[in-house]
Amino acid sequence: MERRPEPELMDDEAQAWAYAQADFSEAHERFVALFTECFPGEPGSGLCLDLGCGAADVLVRFARVHPECRIDGLDGAPAMLALAQRAVDAARLQDRVRLIHGYLPGAELPCRGYDVVISNSLLHHLAAPSVLWETAKGHARPGAALFVMDLSRPDTPARLDELVARHAAGASPLLQRDFRNSLLAAYRPDEVRAQLEDAGLGSCRVSVVSDRHWIAFGRL
Ligand SMILES: C[S@@+](CC[C@H](N)C(=O)[O-])C[C@H]1O[C@@H](n2cnc3c(N)ncnc32)[C@H](O)[C@@H]1O
Repeated sequence: MERRPEPELMDDEAQAWAYAQADFSEAHERFVALFTECFPGEPGSGLCLDLGCGAADVLVRFARVHPECRIDGLDGAPAMLALAQRAVDAARLQDRVRLIHGYLPGAELPCRGYDVVISNSLLHHLAAPSVLWETAKGHARPGAALFVMDLSRPDTPARLDELVARHAAGASPLLQRDFRNSLLAAYRPDEVRAQLEDAGLGSCRVSVVSDRHWIAFGRL
């Protein structure tokens, strides 16, 4: 199926709230576990950047599993960042987490030498996917770990319907609509491999990890 872009920022308050209330525990726990499989022992006490952190559900789970690391979470949507701040406060992570409002490309980040760059479900929002790879390259130290997970666009409308029915049947109409739109906006693993080649990150690997997700990981 042809890619159908969706708006980049999730700055509608109802949309942000619905997203923050949704149960993404399976996928988000998987994100954290797969990171550990790909990069055992990291990030240690290093500084990590979460691009498109949204309501910080992945960020908080990651911080709990890596108690020594500090994390900067960046997002362009104030509505999401307000929910992220609540999640960080509730988890008592204020001393290790900074939330930064900024639009990519061009966002001001406080560091140019991050040890780890993570991102979940940002890429499919980006009209120019190179923005993610170039931001990671431009703000990480040489040899830093890069770990990205996102959805994969289905091949056929029937497959799209099947995934929405399987994974969002019990969700609100708003969340079902967002999930469908996100699948339609998503990049396929072959497209991600080509993006990484173009960005000079051809040594990074892309693996399919579920019926709807891929991961991309390697050294910057
Ligand atoms: C689907 S959410 C994912 C949030 C979080 N990473 C998670 O997995 O729960 C994508 C987030 O990326 C943000 N975003 C999209 N395009 C962006 C851009 N160009 N600059 C900064 N943030 C962006 C949106 O505002 C939204 O909060």
